[in-house]
Amino acid sequence: MKKYVLLFIVSISIFFKGFAEEGMWLPQLLQSLNEKEMKRMGMKINASDIYNISKGSLKDAIVSFGGFCTAEVISDKGLLLTNHHCGFDAIQTHSSVQNNYIRDGFWAYNTGQELKNPGLFATFIIRIDDVTKAVLGGVSSSLPEKERQSLIDKNIAALKTMTKKESYQDILIRSFFEANKYYLFITETYNDVRMVGAPPSSIGNFGKDTDNWMWPRHTGDFSMFRIYADKNNKPAAYSPDNVPYKPKRSLNISLDGVKEGDFTMVFGFPGRTNEYLHSSAIEQTVNVSDPAKIGIRTKALNVIDGFMRKDEEIGIQYAKKYASISNAWKKWQGEILGLTKSNAVTKRKELEANFEKIVMSKPELNVAYMGLLKDLEKVYKDIEPYAYARDYYSEIFPKIELLMFANQLKGVVNAFEKNGEAGYNLAKEKVVERLEDQYKDYSAAVDEKLFSVLMEMYVKDQKDEYSSAYFKNLLKDNGGDYAKTASSVYKQSKIYCMKDLQALLSGNAKDVCDAIKKDIGYQIAMDMQETFTNNVSESLNGYQATINQLQRLYMQAQMDVFTKKAFYPDANSTLRVTYGNAKTFQPRDGVKYDLHTYMEGVMEKYKPGDYEFDLPQKLIDLYNKKDFGRWGVKGKQPVCFIAANHTTGGNSGSPALDAYGNLVGLNFDRAWEGTMSDINYDPSICRNIMVDIRYVMFIVEKYAGAKNLIAEMKFVSKAGVKK
Ligand code: ARG
Ligand code: ASP
Repeated sequence: MKKYVLLFIVSISIFFKGFAEEGMWLPQLLQSLNEKEMKRMGMKINASDIYNISKGSLKDAIVSFGGFCTAEVISDKGLLLTNHHCGFDAIQTHSSVQNNYIRDGFWAYNTGQELKNPGLFATFIIRIDDVTKAVLGGVSSSLPEKERQSLIDKNIAALKTMTKKESYQDILIRSFFEANKYYLFITETYNDVRMVGAPPSSIGNFGKDTDNWMWPRHTGDFSMFRIYADKNNKPAAYSPDNVPYKPKRSLNISLDGVKEGDFTMVFGFPGRTNEYLHSSAIEQTVNVSDPAKIGIRTKALNVIDGFMRKDEEIGIQYAKKYASISNAWKKWQGEILGLTKSNAVTKRKELEANFEKIVMSKPELNVAYMGLLKDLEKVYKDIEPYAYARDYYSEIFPKIELLMFANQLKGVVNAFEKNGEAGYNLAKEKVVERLEDQYKDYSAAVDEKLFSVLMEMYVKDQKDEYSSAYFKNLLKDNGGDYAKTASSVYKQSKIYCMKDLQALLSGNAKDVCDAIKKDIGYQIAMDMQETFTNNVSESLNGYQATINQLQRLYMQAQMDVFTKKAFYPDANSTLRVTYGNAKTFQPRDGVKYDLHTYMEGVMEKYKPGDYEFDLPQKLIDLYNKKDFGRWGVKGKQPVCFIAANHTTGGNSGSPALDAYGNLVGLNFDRAWEGTMSDINYDPSICRNIMVDIRYVMFIVEKYAGAKNLIAEMKFVSKAGVKK
């Protein structure tokens, strides 16, 4: 009797292990690879309802939002839902001390009040085709890398001219599985995307950096935009004559919520994952690369934070920069913890041992892949010092904006040297326009302090040959004092404010270019670049090319060796579906995390006047009156929930859909304990975080009073019946 019980349990656990939970799957392959499993996990629709090229399907409601986030169409007038932090650039651009939309929120109560956003776009995916054969035509494994790449480039160019498309469509060809496969995307990009609504940051970014990457969470991280099209509903540049876009498909909204075990899927544009690395690459992330980047950002954040707290204008100017520096900074810390706690390196080594055993047991695998793991291990060791120097350079240079301004002026100098006066004029006009924009969100005092603090790390933490000799001479002239050096640089340089720059740029092209080249900020930037190019880049690129080649082979090898495993390609900013279940979890011994948070929790965290946890009075009043309308459940207002869906950066703004394909949430984050999911997804501790759609609707209707928006949307119950 006992034996049977045991067997029964074992077979159940095997059955459950069969569920993928992990993976960012290609929508066009769901039918062949995933549909059965999705249905077993609770999905009630078909794969063809998700991706279909002959009739409107869910994919037609999903867009890449500006290339960095996801958004979804939620009305037949092109209304888009995305995260507050995805729309933040736009919100900040429209904000001023007088009209502070960051602080107060923004709502358009009719389309006339919606605000245009130059540069922002929304891209639909029309069709996805496998073009591996054509792209790899003529490519043999003996071909040297350079020739291989140029043949591939030629094949891609040919394919692009041969592929039929409409004039308003684009073609994109991307590599998958470390360049073992290629897919072609026909896309449609709309460039007139207007801002419709955003809650105040005290709702949309409630808890700010303290709560970022954390569960339990209480953030209403959403904002709304609208796609505009020309009179024929086709993509068009901004024009006051454009009209709201009529989508092929928009999402229906379910107010039923999810409960433990319910099927959920997230549909969007995940940016980058590395799930098939060699263990030594993971070791390097944990021990070298993440700590180096965290160290630099800690100092940068301290500097910026000090200024932001004291000065409202700087608070607005640096809000976006601060948030994006701190976002990855915090994620990397979670990543180190998670990789360590989940024993990622040991587990990967076990996988490698297993790989080796299978390879040894089969002559044909042995011929193809013997020694591959050793080669990978060696090249990761070889690249390590150069990768460290790259992390230092690529973290420090862009955070000192003086250097970035210089880098843009280099474009003007180059244009003159290459194309004479005509080239110069064109380049100058563009650069001045861009810099004028960047100066608006710039404070020289902040930048000078950043310069002093970060250049000290740049010099002290690296091998001498990797840092600029020109800068070190300046430092010597200033008695080795970084603050003094910084102060003298910012006194002399003329490239960080419009007035000085205008003066610097007046005169004939040759004199101007000479003057730019003499600017002290320019000289530091150029010498840093040159030092990096001469002493780091060449070796770095050489090893990187070897890594790319070996990882490509290793990807193929894993597929040949682990024949029973279903493989999904790493994220590469293309459209993917990830699915799983709404699921609580145990982050550590004695602690269990619930599925939902409620407004009770918002109020528990509320700290009047606090920079991160303050709340608008109106929200508090609504809570006190329990005025939740039809968005609350039994007197409580749900706020966020979690599920086991494999997501990453870029999935922000992605819809969370229920078993029927109805919108139940808006993805915006992951739980701290599982941020290592980009390298080692572990379904027991990896959770994505979504705003409950009922909280979004509560804020739109009850807080903002934007009934015009509610009226556009379609609400359904589970089976799709109109409510
Ligand atoms: N961690 C989320 C993501 O990676 C949300 C970031 C926005 N919020 C913030 N406080 N920075 O993008
Ligand atoms: N917050 C991320 C984003 O902006 C999502 C994530 O990394 O989980 O895309």
